[in-house]
Amino acid sequence: MLVLLACIEGGIIFILLNRSRSMEHFSDDAVRLDLLRRRAHNRWARLPMDVIPLTAADPDFRVAEPIRDAVKRAAVDGVFSYGPDGGTPAFREAAALFVREHKGIGCTAENIYATCGVAQGMMHTARAFMKPGDEAILFDPVDFLFGRSVDAAGGRRVYSRVDKETGRIDIEGLKALVGPRTRMLCVCSPHNPLGRLTRRDELRAMVDLAADHDLVIMSDEIWSDIVFEGVHTATASLPGAWERTVSLYGFSKTYAMAGLQLGYAVAAPPLLEGLQRVAPGYFYPVNTVSMEAGQAALEEAWPWAEAFLGHLRRVRDHAVRRLRGMPGVDVRKPEATYTLFPDVSSYGVTSEEMARYLLEEARVAVVPGHGEGFSYFGPGGEGHIRMVFCTSMRIMAEALDRVEEALSSLS
Ligand SMILES: Cc1ncc(COP(=O)(O)O)c(C=O)c1O
Repeated sequence: MLVLLACIEGGIIFILLNRSRSMEHFSDDAVRLDLLRRRAHNRWARLPMDVIPLTAADPDFRVAEPIRDAVKRAAVDGVFSYGPDGGTPAFREAAALFVREHKGIGCTAENIYATCGVAQGMMHTARAFMKPGDEAILFDPVDFLFGRSVDAAGGRRVYSRVDKETGRIDIEGLKALVGPRTRMLCVCSPHNPLGRLTRRDELRAMVDLAADHDLVIMSDEIWSDIVFEGVHTATASLPGAWERTVSLYGFSKTYAMAGLQLGYAVAAPPLLEGLQRVAPGYFYPVNTVSMEAGQAALEEAWPWAEAFLGHLRRVRDHAVRRLRGMPGVDVRKPEATYTLFPDVSSYGVTSEEMARYLLEEARVAVVPGHGEGFSYFGPGGEGHIRMVFCTSMRIMAEALDRVEEALSSLS
């Protein structure tokens, strides 16, 4: 009896120790502004010191220990030879195992193709399966990388409006957009910027539509580890989807490794050959050290990622509550991702004007939902701003205080 009690107590202490250690990773003091101001080139390093950047989806936390160790090991060994086409065998094995276990796609290492990030994988996919003048259907709003990838292939973007209130896809409307030049359907699930998981029935309808018209599906699932409520369904896990889906996964969002430029495509052999044709390893080689870091992430950093998710949930709840308390601001609670996409159209200004105003008055940088010169999320993003919350509670709370004060003088 005593032994049992000691075991239970030991277990509780172990859990508490682990919990407090993982909390330390994401505590207020864990955000090292001294390092970020030198190294976070898309956020802290590019803006004046007094600005809080809630712009790029690039976490403010240092990567998990096993990832740092992997990079150190590679540096100590000092051998930086060419990597093989498609990725190192060890990386491909680790990725295949992760995808089988976490995404429910029955793949092997032969189905993995390493890329320098998901953005590059998107561009390769568009170039592999579209000819100039072909059409790709993408959602509106959605991350600008989809449109850019279609442009890079010389393709034409065809927008399918997403209901911004519910995030639902208009399946009937989508069907009406398919024409003789349609080649590709672009899925973003979980959805950036709406933070919604595409539902199984929606995916089913899209897979059926793709099968009816012989389309390739580019399924960007880079956000699929950041899920607070509900279950992510991988498009390629649906019956009939495997042979026409290129699934894209990455490391930037889950493991804070954006600068290591790593991602991978998962696909059936004929599709993978298409990728190989447009992106042979000698022109698009993937950094071997990044793959070692990626392998460490997949094999050893899941506890870190789970603790990160717990932290994000707390910041999300705080941010949504605060934003909903601000007059004229309407915001969906994201069930996935760390992006917020508040509707600020009631202020009677454009997204760009609002972003400029918040930068000048609140010293908080956000991304305009749409813009004349450059649109981050497509025409459907007008009236919105995007804010990320992959930072500490203290920084997020401070940013929200500033936004609230600036908005109160605007209204
Ligand atoms: C939907 C989506 N795809 C791709 C990317 C870029 O991925 P990576 O950093 O792996 O190139 C992002 C980054 O925000 C994204 O939101």
